[in-house]
Amino acid sequence: GAPVTQDISELAEGQQMVINWRGQPIFVAKRSKSMLDMLPQMDALLADPKSDNIDQQPAYAKNEWRSIKPEVLVLVGVCTHLGCAPELHAEVKPEPFDPDWKGGYFCPCHKSRYDLAGRVLKAQPAPANLPVPPYHFEDDNTLVIG
Ligand code: FES
Repeated sequence: GAPVTQDISELAEGQQMVINWRGQPIFVAKRSKSMLDMLPQMDALLADPKSDNIDQQPAYAKNEWRSIKPEVLVLVGVCTHLGCAPELHAEVKPEPFDPDWKGGYFCPCHKSRYDLAGRVLKAQPAPANLPVPPYHFEDDNTLVIG
């Protein structure tokens, strides 16, 4: 499939846009400084905190933020359990409440939780972090997926 280009200049902190790429939803979310500061504190709760599963992201996204630009998260929006669409919960936490979870993605199908880098918590139905697709920036606000 052809690469898809998206202007992300309107993307606000705590929000995401969804882009279609090769028939898959791509989530592009903008993280605030406080969201980024929280990521290192999540590591002990995560199944793959260092993104060691090389199938789940390109090498340039194997870092604490799982992204090229720390504030811009780019993920394939398909739960690694059975393929439902995870929801972004930047603030609000769904039931059942989990005090350890500081927000991120929540899959409504079987309640898998991911953090704000798409990293899955331990002992969830989902076995792996949300995938990061291949992407790059053409300029500061122009994202190219694929
Ligand atoms: Fe997401 Fe089952 S499909 S938890």
